[in-house]
Amino acid sequence: MKQFYTIQGGRRLEGTVTISGAKNAAVAIIPAAILAGECCILENLPHIADVQRLKTILEKLGAKVDYTRGDCLTIDPTAIKTTDATFDEVGDMRASSYLLGAMLGSYGEVELALPGGCVIGQRPIDQHIKGMRALGAKVYMDESRNVVRAQATRLKGAEIFFDIVSVGATINLMLAACKAEGQTVLQNVAKEPHVVDVANFLNMMGASIKGAGTDVIRIIGRNKLHGCTYAVIPDQIETGTYMIAAAATRGDVIIKNVIPTHMEAVSAKLMESGARVIEGDDGREFYLRVTMNERPRSVNLKTMVYPGFPTDLQQPMMAYLCCAQGTSIIQENIFENRFNHVKELRRMGASVSVSKRIAKVKGVEALRGAEIAATDLRAGAALIVAGLSAHGTTTVRNIEYVDRGYEHLEHKFNALGGYIERGSK
Ligand code: UD1
Repeated sequence: MKQFYTIQGGRRLEGTVTISGAKNAAVAIIPAAILAGECCILENLPHIADVQRLKTILEKLGAKVDYTRGDCLTIDPTAIKTTDATFDEVGDMRASSYLLGAMLGSYGEVELALPGGCVIGQRPIDQHIKGMRALGAKVYMDESRNVVRAQATRLKGAEIFFDIVSVGATINLMLAACKAEGQTVLQNVAKEPHVVDVANFLNMMGASIKGAGTDVIRIIGRNKLHGCTYAVIPDQIETGTYMIAAAATRGDVIIKNVIPTHMEAVSAKLMESGARVIEGDDGREFYLRVTMNERPRSVNLKTMVYPGFPTDLQQPMMAYLCCAQGTSIIQENIFENRFNHVKELRRMGASVSVSKRIAKVKGVEALRGAEIAATDLRAGAALIVAGLSAHGTTTVRNIEYVDRGYEHLEHKFNALGGYIERGSK
């Protein structure tokens, strides 16, 4: 049965919401736990479909994976009995590419179903493969089976300069190199918060990784790592989604369990549009308060690697700017095809034209409810932001995309005074 959301729009969001653990960190840290060779306890994991799917993947490989508390997973990789990760769940999930580094680093071999392209773009893994080869792995692509096979007696540290800045390749190479022989230097790396989080987790397991969060990461390989307990950082993209939704509904929302420095690019654009964004510390944790009382002003933005404006928030931000005064220019620099949400926003009365990687968003007075469908995870988030701010009722189909990455979304928005109901047919 297909599930959908019914949203009654036009309600001002007010109150407090607590952010969950970061999806993009979790989906890297779960496979990374294999490298410990012992039991790891992961805390603050979000309850989302992608985490559930990775749990299934690890179990199919032989690991013992159990929820010990609501947000806490114990992973014991000692019973992993196969390096054959060619089953369906692997190919269906982009982040399973982290098994390449984790299994190659742990067992010296892996056979992996290739993550396919997706609606936001081709998303090749050439930089991951280039890096693994530089560490001495033999990597074969079996295109007829859509499988990649990698093998190395012992990986050897190397200097790797990435051709492009890639979050996935940076993390995958950290995973592979932390048990390689000698030093690895990764240059032109991604600096996203979850890159740093994965490095912190690996260091907690006994790895030696320095420089995560800068352009150069240095890794000294260790023969053996060990188990640990680690809490995943709060989700930067979920935080941004609630910040944008607060502004889009002309609301007043306190967002807790956040790292404000991760949000600076988003806060800056929201403030430029006329919203008030205040950072605070209540003595126990940081929070952000977003208040908006008027129609937003248009702003221009370009998606960039961190610390620039994140591509994952381009879509929700566009939904917000659909009702701005004036025309906003949005340039998508990371993915070649991340404007699939535009035709859905147009159904709601938005005036957006797209030419290659540039969208021109001519603000309208208000959006109106419509029947629309998500085409990917963050497109889904954008349509929910649009639905919450629109006049009337919006139905968002294909919400399985949203379930991949947002924990308890309707409960969190409803607690803020929104109206989102899950249905199925
Ligand atoms: C990660 C995030 C995703 C976010 C993206 C960019 C996770 C699980 N997902 O995806 O939410 O939108 O970063 O911030 O963390 N590329 C290549 N060759 C490669 C690798 C990447 O050409 O080998 C290209 C991609 O097609 C894309 C760009 O580089 O155009 C950036 O991709 P990358 O940073 O690798 O994104 P992901 O790790 O897939």
